Order: sequence, then structure tokens, then C-alpha cells
Amino acid sequence: MQSVNLIKSNAFNSIESHERSEYKLKFKDTSWDFKTAFTKYSNHGFHTYPAMMIPQIAKRLMETYGNNAKVLLDPFMGSGTALLEATLHNNFKKAYGIDINPLALLISKVKTTLIEPKLLAEEYKNLMRECLEDKKNINFKQKTIEKPTFSNIDFWFKSQVIIDLTIIKNNINEIKNKDVKNFFLVPFSETVRNASNTRNNEYKLYRLSEPMLKKHNPNTIDLFKEKTQENIIGMEEFFQNYNKNCEIQILSEDTRDKTSIQNQEVDLIVTSPPYGDSRTTVAYGQFSRLSLQWLGLPSRDVFNIDRKSLGGIPTKDLKNNLNSPTLQETLNKIAANDSTRARDVLSFYVDFDKCVQELHRVTKKGAFLCFVVGNRTVKGVQIPTDEIILELFQSRNHYKHHNTFIRNIPYKRMPKLNSPTNISGNHAMTMNEEWIVILEKQ
Ligand SMILES: C[S@@+](CC[C@H](N)C(=O)[O-])C[C@H]1O[C@@H](n2cnc3c(N)ncnc32)[C@H](O)[C@@H]1O
Repeated sequence: MQSVNLIKSNAFNSIESHERSEYKLKFKDTSWDFKTAFTKYSNHGFHTYPAMMIPQIAKRLMETYGNNAKVLLDPFMGSGTALLEATLHNNFKKAYGIDINPLALLISKVKTTLIEPKLLAEEYKNLMRECLEDKKNINFKQKTIEKPTFSNIDFWFKSQVIIDLTIIKNNINEIKNKDVKNFFLVPFSETVRNASNTRNNEYKLYRLSEPMLKKHNPNTIDLFKEKTQENIIGMEEFFQNYNKNCEIQILSEDTRDKTSIQNQEVDLIVTSPPYGDSRTTVAYGQFSRLSLQWLGLPSRDVFNIDRKSLGGIPTKDLKNNLNSPTLQETLNKIAANDSTRARDVLSFYVDFDKCVQELHRVTKKGAFLCFVVGNRTVKGVQIPTDEIILELFQSRNHYKHHNTFIRNIPYKRMPKLNSPTNISGNHAMTMNEEWIVILEKQ
């Protein structure tokens, strides 16, 4: 394996420099593309989530850097891809996942909780019988139901969809076994999204156009049935392969703060942090909002996710004491065009640096830290997050830059074209590549 010590020269810091191009050429490695790989095996296909990690990447990182590791951490767990892979890998005794998004916590918990397939099949049969019975009784006016009343529900859902979702939700609520109940809430959440009036290929909430809306008459119960059956098959596969010695700890905490993980407990980090602040990159809060409203979360929790995400609150100005020359140079370039956008960018790295401090506390000497990052472009300036991460860690302590792999992103729902102004339709090219940066704590 190639091992590189990254010593910065001024020329290297220049974003479009010759050195940067050489660097890119050196680390480009298409074997990390997994262009045709099936990514939905076991429980990986349970629920869509923005910017999901490819399980093959998590697996390969664990095999390459984690064979002697006992404790894994994904500090930006999302839908739990790395955690699920840890339970399919033999040597881990414990895997921690942290996220601030309650939907991410639910999905990850369900994906990593084994349920006996026979029990699941039985519960599924009962659930569907009850749902169909309720639907019949409501149609024949022999039963009434109380619909949920969160804001804008009629804007985002047609009335028949609201009735069907309420039927499913009420019947899931009747299930006594908490793991089984949570299991069904995951396909329910997918059904909420798929049956809603949103444009389904976008993570932000955009309503279907009027002509599309007229044609949109989903069979909600069937959508739920299909997704649930798919997930039951996933659970059967998981049942065959999981490592029962791996304890999963899902923490509803904030990686910027001191977490409940012990000092120097972690041997391996495998993670994909957000690409930038949620206002101008992926709005995890918006993506999760309708599901969380249906799941009955209080609105203050539902509407606060994007503000709680890294960079959720812009800095007042561009003053900072972050120890990354590459970041400072990048900020100057962006600020020359637009100081507001430069503050958005800075707010993300100020928060990221707080996470660096926490990750430094929880990792052992000799630990490997693997970050899958995107180098997004703001105001025509590409932000080299791969280098900035390196500098932020190296400024804190001795971290060796072990390796970098640059992969092509074969397919992403996160658009290759993004909207730099946040105005729908105003697009610019964004990321086609991801950078896998490996650090070793010395
Ligand atoms: C790129 S996603 C991770 C996707 C994940 N690898 C997967 O396969 O689904 C980044 C995650 O970081 C979470 N996040 C943002 N700010 C956070 C914070 N301060 N602490 C913990 N998690 C945070 C977001 O909620 C989001 O789920």
C-alpha cells in the first residue's frame, strides 16, 4: 500500500495548481468505483437516504484497515451503511454510530437489529390483514379514523393517501414488540415519501407540477406491501450472515460535542460526512420532514435538523482560527465573489473542526480514520475538503496521511448538476468524484 506524507508547499495549496492535477492523477483509482455492484444486499436497501455510502466501500475499508480492529465508529452515520457492514464483518465487538437526525437513527437501528424471519412473516400477515379490513370498513362507512393534523398535510398528500397512511400507521402502533414495530415503520416511512406529492427524484421538497399531480394516484397500501416484502427478504439474508458478537450502539448525539464514547476507545472510523452546510448542499432535514411528521415527532425536532447539521448556522464574519492554509486560501477566493457564500462554507468547517477534536479524543493511537468526502464547488471555486481535513487533523496532533483514493461517482441521486443559487433550474456542474482519505493516528 502506498503511504504518502503530505507536506504542503504554497504551490500545492493553489487549488487549480499543476501539483493538484498531478496529485489527482496519482490517487485516481477506479477500482473504488464499484460501477456495476449491487448495493442493496442484506438490509442495505431498507430505506433511501441522501448521499448513502456504497456498502462495498465500507466493506473494503474494513477489510483493508480494520482486520485487527475491535471498535468501529461512524460519526455521521446516516442510514447506517458502515454499521450494517460492521455486523457482517467478523472481528468487531462494538460499532458506534452517531447522528442528529431521528430518521437516520430509526433506519440504522432497524437495519442492524436482527428479527427472526418467521416472527416477521407472521406479524406481516397480521398487519396486512388488519389494514385491509380497516380499509374495507372505512370504504363502507362502518369505521371512521382520525387523521393526523400536521402543517401542510393536504398540500403534500392527497386525501386517499392520508387515509391509507393513517390506517397503516395505526395498525403498526398496535404491535407490541418494539423491534417489530420499528421494522415496519421503515417501509412506512419510504411509503410516505413515495405516495406523497413530492418529486421523488429530489431530496429537497418540491411539489409535483399540476399536470403530474392529476396523474398521481398511488395505491398506498400496495406501495407499503411491496417495500415491506422486499425488506423481509433483506432480513432473511441478514439472518444468515450477521455477526452476533458485534454490539451496536446508536447514539442520538452531536459529533461536535463530547459524546458518550470513552477516551481512546475507537480503532477504526469509516464515515462519509456531509458535503457542506445543509442550506446549500443536501438538506437532510427537508428530506426527512414528511416521514418524521407522520412518525409523530414534535415539530421543533422535525424543523431543527438542518440548523443542527454541520454549518447549520452561518458565521457572523470570516474571522476564524482554523489551522488550514488551504481552507483560508479557498475562503479568500470565494469571498472575492460572494462573502455570504464564503461564510456558509466557513461555518461548515468551523463545525467540522469541533468534530475533529472529538474524534481525536475517542480514537486510539494506531487507529485508522477513513473519510469519504466530496470536493464541492462554490462560486466556481472547488473546495478541496480532502486536503482541509488532513490539515485540520494534522494541526491537532500527529496524523499520518496514509493514502487517498479518488473514485468516480457512477450514479447519485444527489444531482451531478446542483443549484448554486438554491433556485430550482439554475444549475452548475458539481461533484463527479469522491475522495477517500485515510489517516493513521500516530
Ligand atoms: C452523508 S450523510 C451519511 C450517509 C451515510 N454514510 C449512509 O450511508 O447513509 C451525513 C450524515 O451526517 C449527519 N450529521 C450532520 N451533522 C451532524 C452532527 N453535528 N453530528 C452527527 N451527525 C451529523 C446528517 O444528519 C447525515 O445523516
